[in-house]
Amino acid sequence: MLSNLKKKAIIILMTYHIVTYGCQMNVHDSEKIAGVLKARGYSETDDPKNSDVVIFNTCCIRESAEARALGAIASFKGVKARRPDTVLIVVGCVPQKEDSFEKLQRDFKFVDIVLGTHNLTDFEKTFDEYSASKNRFTEIIPKALNLKENASYRTSGANAWVNIMYGCNNFCTYCIVPYVRGRERSRAPEEIIDEVTACVADGYREITLLGQNVNSYGVGLDVNINFAALLRKICEIPGDYRIKFMTSNPKDLTDGVIDCIAENRKLADYIHLPAQSGSTKILAAMNRRYTRESYLTLIGKIREKIPHCGLSSDFIAGFPGETDGDFQDTLSMVREVRFNNIYSFMFSRRRGTVAATLPDAIESAVKKQRVRELIALQREISSSIALECAGKSYRALIEREHGDMREGNPVALSDCGKMIFLEPTDEKYLHTFQNVFVTGNRSGRLVGRVGE
Ligand code: SAH
Ligand code: SF4
Ligand code: F3S
Repeated sequence: MLSNLKKKAIIILMTYHIVTYGCQMNVHDSEKIAGVLKARGYSETDDPKNSDVVIFNTCCIRESAEARALGAIASFKGVKARRPDTVLIVVGCVPQKEDSFEKLQRDFKFVDIVLGTHNLTDFEKTFDEYSASKNRFTEIIPKALNLKENASYRTSGANAWVNIMYGCNNFCTYCIVPYVRGRERSRAPEEIIDEVTACVADGYREITLLGQNVNSYGVGLDVNINFAALLRKICEIPGDYRIKFMTSNPKDLTDGVIDCIAENRKLADYIHLPAQSGSTKILAAMNRRYTRESYLTLIGKIREKIPHCGLSSDFIAGFPGETDGDFQDTLSMVREVRFNNIYSFMFSRRRGTVAATLPDAIESAVKKQRVRELIALQREISSSIALECAGKSYRALIEREHGDMREGNPVALSDCGKMIFLEPTDEKYLHTFQNVFVTGNRSGRLVGRVGE
């Protein structure tokens, strides 16, 4: 009896800590890993130095992201030396990149398990084998294993991430994603419907469909289905929830999807539509396959059909050959569209991509200055949009400030993508949809209260 109790006590004390870099794909992959560990009796700890299992889920979209991840892993070497039984695991996009994998093999011998994005579905099996044998496992495979998803644990409050596709076929010339996430694969619609149905039954109020280019959903499946048809099917699932998706490539956003958002209350009136540049010349060099004009026409169409649609975008400053004139085109596009929000990045050279070989690299100081200008311009636009919101009401999902962490104050996330900071007393509305009245803004951050 006593020994049984001891065993139990040991199981309860086993802990894991996951450090996640990069996009929502990685956030969701980390949830899947956490689910496997929880099923084995591990509980989460925020103290990596005293954790039994430590996982770094890495990103290599820009050089800085990769350096940050590798730096964090390297700084763990001392902890691993002090606590050799700590199982140290590296997964994600960095190991899937050939040169980085070699680096991990060569300079990071203290890491116990290395898995890439293509064999992450093997995590469960690999972890169990390692636990039994303690044999170091590092393997990267060139093509994805086609195993079923199993997300048994979620960490984003009332939001559930649901993969609808993996990989990317677009090969934008700057981007490493097609090389580290492989070719585009759509998930079978019935699997997606089953997962969304289960999430809604479990009480999730927001479902975010994930894919690098959700608009090309369905290509290559045996059944004849596209993204708009998938959205319509999902909307038929009964329940009080809303649907978001990311990311939409402007070249593939169809009238069918826009109409679907316009007609269906379950779909959030919000689209993240990365433009990357406002210069047609640079867009061509980026292989984005749309022009400044066609992007602006698309925005016009969205606004006509969904007048209050929230819009956000990504921009890259300092792509090779970007002149001052090209950058002015980007600024003027940002001014013209008045996005609710933009993310601006300095171009980062990723070995293996086409853009890494292009001439006319832009100096780092110029890239920095351009990003600064973009941020300053957007700040102005966001403040003027914030002023227009005062006195208006928005339907919103009430969440905590930082996901579902205990200490965060409640915030309202409107259907059109606005974040409104609430009073702590509005906590009673957590994870419900409410009308939220915007009373004003504090340095550009909207503040309000639940009620008309
Ligand atoms: N699939 C998404 C983007 C995923 S990457 C899409 O097509 O929009 C997220 C963002 O990182 C991109 O939108 C782009 O703005 C930025 N990005 C990608 N590669 C980059 C690079 N080499 N340098 C700088 N920013 C980059
Ligand atoms: Fe990268 Fe372009 Fe694919 Fe997005 S669509 S992941 S930017 S290659
Ligand atoms: Fe980064 Fe991989 Fe996502 S490179 S942005 S974590 S797909």
